[in-house]
Amino acid sequence: MPLFRKSRSLLLASAAAGIVVAAGVAVTGTAEAASTLGASAAQSGRYFGAAIAAGKLGDGTYTGILTREFNAVTPENEMKWDATEPSQGRFTFTNGDRILNQGLSNGSKVRGHALLWHAQQPGWAQSLSGSALRTAAINHVTQVATHYKGKIYAWDVVNEAFADGGSGGRRDSNLQRTGNDWIEAAFRAARAADPNAKLCYNDYNTDGVNAKSTGIYNMVRDFKSRGVPIDCVGFQSHLGTGIPGDYQANLQRFADLGVDVQITELDVAQGGNQAGVYASVTRACMAVSRCTGITVWGIRDSDSWRTGENPLLFDNSGNKKAAYTSVLNALNAGGTTPSSSTSAPPQSGGACGASVSLNSWNGGFVATVRVIAGSAPINGWTVTVTLPSGSAVTSAWSATNTGTTGTVSFRNVAYNGQLAAGGATEFGFQGTGAGPTATPACSAG
Ligand code: XIL
Repeated sequence: MPLFRKSRSLLLASAAAGIVVAAGVAVTGTAEAASTLGASAAQSGRYFGAAIAAGKLGDGTYTGILTREFNAVTPENEMKWDATEPSQGRFTFTNGDRILNQGLSNGSKVRGHALLWHAQQPGWAQSLSGSALRTAAINHVTQVATHYKGKIYAWDVVNEAFADGGSGGRRDSNLQRTGNDWIEAAFRAARAADPNAKLCYNDYNTDGVNAKSTGIYNMVRDFKSRGVPIDCVGFQSHLGTGIPGDYQANLQRFADLGVDVQITELDVAQGGNQAGVYASVTRACMAVSRCTGITVWGIRDSDSWRTGENPLLFDNSGNKKAAYTSVLNALNAGGTTPSSSTSAPPQSGGACGASVSLNSWNGGFVATVRVIAGSAPINGWTVTVTLPSGSAVTSAWSATNTGTTGTVSFRNVAYNGQLAAGGATEFGFQGTGAGPTATPACSAG
């Protein structure tokens, strides 16, 4: 049993010229290096996961590495539409449950992957269209998210819905042809079915600022402004031999919209500087406070879907590669603490509490507020913040504000007013000037 000791100190220095680092964002320094990926990531409140296959859980080398190194799992195929609803209305969760139970019994987070996707659809869904497909798709989201309710850390609600290339628009698919609002319909259905899972949009070729990632960015910004429930964006990061220079900046611009970011399917072709690329990805996540974790898409090279590319952290025999060591070192170097892991607000016996995490720059800020119910369920909440003079709220998402300067109150919107005992939700607002510094007040009812 490794001993974890960590020391934390407030980061007071600015991260880059002109950037004022968020109040309350801490940097972890590790007094003692952890010796596994999961334990090391946990020192900064993050997870380090792997995609796993139910059919390999009988392989002792495989499960040995899995239980030793990783504190999150994603089913590589077992929770996809073709696996969970092979014929319409008949659901099979046997293999998905095996992944879930493997993760939960090991104390790991489980990422659900993926509720809706143009690929790996069952044949019956491929042949549907229009309202019949829309109804079937939303029913699928509801049924699968309900089956796993309360057990999934984050769902990839929609996977790979944007087109490659310069358009920045949606990918054509049978789902897209049911209407552009299919993505938000899916997110709303997932929220209704499992209010505690983080709901992610997940895609590839989004590893830098490009037309595709900007299309997704604009969708997330729109969802936030209209109160469509979205909590996170997954960056698959199936990388070749290089990494875009603006990889970290791209993660940060999404985080600044008020969502978590996660590296969801990392693998890197061997041949170039594989260890260096892995280290760069890890450092980027560690530097972005809302980057909550990294998942590699398989354990040994022989487990990878990228046959012959040897893109993973362990060789065919299960030995650690140089890339493994570079990731471990980057994790042990510490980083900013994910805001979501520091966000349990003080409730001091009250009906609800709120905490704020701030991203600020010269002249403006984005505030993400987490609201948590006390020991009883609540039906409606109001959070009050005090802004410094000269500051003003310019927009809010997932809440409605009264006032824009001085003392500003935020009322829940329709979907996020009801919280179970201990349940939480997030809203955000953007403003000019400096953000609030004191802990917000929360009242229920
Ligand atoms: C891949 C699996 O690894 C393969 O076993 C399967 O044959 C095809 O799908 N993006 C995704 C993942 O979101 O679900 C894909 O997984 C890899 C690309």
